Amino acid sequence: MHTVADILIAWYERNGRSLPWRETRDPYRIWLSEVILQQTRVAQGMDYYLRFTERFPNVASLAAADEDSVLKLWQGLGYYSRARNLHAAARQVMEQFGGDFPEKFEDVRSLRGVGDYTAAAICSMAYDLPCAVVDGNVYRVLGRLFDIEEPIDTGAGKKLYAALARETLGEAPPAVYNQAIMDFGALACTPTQPACETCPLTEQCAARAAGTVAQRPVKKGTTKIRDRRFHYLHIVCGDRTVLHRRGAGDIWQGLYEFPIVETDSDPSATEAFRRWVGTRWMQHEAVDLPKHQLSHQRIFATVHRIEVETFTSEAEVHAVPTAEVDAYAIPRLLERYLESR
Ligand code: ADE
Repeated sequence: MHTVADILIAWYERNGRSLPWRETRDPYRIWLSEVILQQTRVAQGMDYYLRFTERFPNVASLAAADEDSVLKLWQGLGYYSRARNLHAAARQVMEQFGGDFPEKFEDVRSLRGVGDYTAAAICSMAYDLPCAVVDGNVYRVLGRLFDIEEPIDTGAGKKLYAALARETLGEAPPAVYNQAIMDFGALACTPTQPACETCPLTEQCAARAAGTVAQRPVKKGTTKIRDRRFHYLHIVCGDRTVLHRRGAGDIWQGLYEFPIVETDSDPSATEAFRRWVGTRWMQHEAVDLPKHQLSHQRIFATVHRIEVETFTSEAEVHAVPTAEVDAYAIPRLLERYLESR
């Protein structure tokens, strides 16, 4: 009798993708790839993985970098806390583990930004520890295979799925099994139009038998989307452009952007506007940017191009040479605006 794991591995050996982080057992590289791939598709993440491993070939070089250059290399990938955590965790490895990537699950799990999924991925793929990963693909494959009604976003659901994942791994080789189930979810057992006709697990699939494939996995909460109205002040003062580093507690922490006024009404009537540009200024144009969609927010932004003779804002800003704006890590929507000019 072939187990589910055997069948997934056999499928993977014929259909799995050949990806650079699958050619290594280096925990640093596996960690890097998993953090990049957490909220990013393989096609987009690949380039970033190659750039990061070239620029920072080991944990020591990443730890030695400054945060701005890590964020700059991450620019465009989104979810920037991943990059900040990656950098902080590299320093943690240097300080707490003497520069050697930890090898015990609990130690790996203690690194900044490393949750159950990432720790299981690193420990299985680098060290062959028997840890089963549970990510979005795995929820879908197991949710269908066992026709699970429990939602994936409840405590009980998470526990149930973790136990089923561990059971399904069984005695199979963990590194290849985990890659197999993730690829199977990404390529065959897809969210819409899964390839049930050619699926090697048709006989075992409870949702297929029950006709519930399209309803699995079950998710309870729908997250609310929040709309925000940004006005960016593209302030030019001679050959300088004004940038501002975003603070903690909101999206894009640590990235640079133009001074911002967040309001649904006329931005020039606000106190924040006066703080940024003072009283002597000339407005040239206002450009509405395309709607920018994040996971839980929609950003509607307008860039107001403003010239000032002297720049004396009270707020903490950087008036940088315009030719050097490129060197700063900036959000994607502003990058596109600057490219289009
Ligand atoms: N998504 C998350 N981890 C992955 C991996 N190791 N290979 C392919 N896709 C992934």
